Amino acid sequence: MTIKEARIRIDALRSVINEHNRRYYVESSPAISDFEFDLLMQELQGIEKKFPELVDAASPTQRVGSDLGGGFAQVVHRYPMLSLGNTYSEEELREFDARIAKAFDEAYEYVCELKFDGAGISLTYVNGALHRAVTRGDGVQGDDVTANVRTVRSIPLQLNGSGFPSEIEVRGEILLPHSAFEAMNREREKQGKALLANPRNAAAGTLKMLDSKEVARRGLDNFIYYMPGGDLPFASHYDSLQAARSWGFKVSEHTQVCADINAVLHFIRRWETARKQLPYDTDGVVVKVNSLAQQRALGFTAKTPRWAIAYKFKAEQAITTLLSVDYQVGRTGAITPVANLEPVKLAGTTVKRASLHNADQIALLDVRIGDMVYVEKGGEIIPKIVGVDPSKHSENLLPLQYITACPECGTPLVRPEGEAKHFCPNESGCPPQIVGRIIHFASRKAMNIEGLGDETVELLYKNGLVKNAADLYDLRKAQIARLERMGDKSAENILQGLENSKKAPFARVLFALGVRYVGETTAKKLADAFGSLDALQNATFEQLLEVDEIGEQIAKSALAFFGEEKNQLLLSKLKEVGLRFTSEKQQRFSSELEGLTFVITGTLSRPREELKQLIEQHGGKVTSAISGSTSYLLAGEKAGSKLQKAEKLLVKVIDETQFLELISNKINDV
Ligand code: IVH
Repeated sequence: MTIKEARIRIDALRSVINEHNRRYYVESSPAISDFEFDLLMQELQGIEKKFPELVDAASPTQRVGSDLGGGFAQVVHRYPMLSLGNTYSEEELREFDARIAKAFDEAYEYVCELKFDGAGISLTYVNGALHRAVTRGDGVQGDDVTANVRTVRSIPLQLNGSGFPSEIEVRGEILLPHSAFEAMNREREKQGKALLANPRNAAAGTLKMLDSKEVARRGLDNFIYYMPGGDLPFASHYDSLQAARSWGFKVSEHTQVCADINAVLHFIRRWETARKQLPYDTDGVVVKVNSLAQQRALGFTAKTPRWAIAYKFKAEQAITTLLSVDYQVGRTGAITPVANLEPVKLAGTTVKRASLHNADQIALLDVRIGDMVYVEKGGEIIPKIVGVDPSKHSENLLPLQYITACPECGTPLVRPEGEAKHFCPNESGCPPQIVGRIIHFASRKAMNIEGLGDETVELLYKNGLVKNAADLYDLRKAQIARLERMGDKSAENILQGLENSKKAPFARVLFALGVRYVGETTAKKLADAFGSLDALQNATFEQLLEVDEIGEQIAKSALAFFGEEKNQLLLSKLKEVGLRFTSEKQQRFSSELEGLTFVITGTLSRPREELKQLIEQHGGKVTSAISGSTSYLLAGEKAGSKLQKAEKLLVKVIDETQFLELISNKINDV
């Protein structure tokens, strides 16, 4: 591979991985399995290792994902919530063991635990009382979900017995057992709501609900598996778990001390099958060095502990009969063939539908109606068909004829060069595309229009009230109120939601437009780089490419979007309505901090992003590392190594109040 080829591949991998990260962490709706995701990540890591000059801080290999959402206070983790190194192979597990063996002259042993497939949680207890529960977030800071976590019955609100430190943090996994997950989806199906992908997403989504009463109904569960911090009064990890159990936490009874790597492999082999009988999802085994002193000696890399590794199981498969194929039309016009199956149990849930991806996949598998097919569950809502049982495959079954016209509007389908999917080109006349675009516009991560769910958008469209996003803002109360299932109250809510959406920042408006390939992160990058819609609309191909992480595909798509007359019309209407088309970052309040460089650390009362923005709005700069040229360290509570470094380098340390004073005469404008 030449460096040029490496750069191209790295760019492609980074943008694909970023998008999958966003879907996984932000939308809770992943599009590929963890296994496929890990393969992409491994490929990227491999190339970056060979070409270290191409590594940069923005690469997805350099950070852990994020589940930061709106609506919850952000809390900085006292100890960052790291991820685990992972592997799918015995060979790599033996390499891990060899690294451990090399580090010590003395004996060592492991603890094997199930890897619970839910949402990580950090619980802090003060004098034995549950004080705070925080999601993993981006690993550095997470959402304060204490009110919701209090409803989880397996989490003690008050610890039993004694012997626990006055302040202690415990970590574990919040999960949704299969039975609770299925009940939840049955209810959603009845209400006509979109089904949740899997118990992991359902658990993560439930944790972030605004209504704790609803959370309590859902049946979340929890297992504890780790206590961070180096000063625990235990000799081993296993002992710490036993203590946690005695204090009232739920600790898995399947946790086991293993004398050596062979015992570890034995544990893994046993649970690879036995896990299918468990009432909740597991996706692997976590192997940890047992002695806490040895853990401390091994320490951490920037992202993972050196004393632990996760062995991941391959996705589970089931075999069943293919009954028929439907074709779904997405908001971009992309066609997805979806198989209807003889219902089959897979990884604890019943599967009736599975994706066949595209025409090539169907041809490749030569899949026919009546075939016995293998279904595999990754992270997605719909599992996928990965193979056909050749012993049952017969030439007597008719080959599938891929459709040539849109099943919704009858327009002949096209397959653009380089695309794996067929598309319905009737953008402006095909109902699911029109409705899909408006649903996307109103969705939580876009304009977040409260009261305007999928079904309501559909209802408005069917009644001829909206044909595009701008029409939403022309709606009148009486028009909405007379619709089926609506009334004065819901009409008022929707209008209020629309009014509130006018405050959404430019980046979100840009994302809401649904420009192809412009996801949430890309929209933010473009908004930051250009600062306004006018500047973005006037940008050339080359200027677009200059923006970090914007490649040719995105640049072309943006140019095509802004070049179309009907989009220009839509944009000018949205502008007229009062949506924000300039970036807040561009707004300058003063030059008070011109020439000054800040580093932010510790727990502060506002999110770091907000403080960073404030500093920039007053002309200052924020960097991540302290050096001699840092002007101020803005330090919150529990500031750690950065505080020491600042003192050593004689960098001035200020707290939040002092910082606000620095810009005090301007603060009223903010
Ligand atoms: S230990 C510093 N043990 O897996 C190490 N994690 O991929 C702390 N997980 O973020 C984690 N079961 O959310 C640990 N038995 C277990 C686990 C476990 C599930 C999750 C956890 C973590 C992720 C890493």
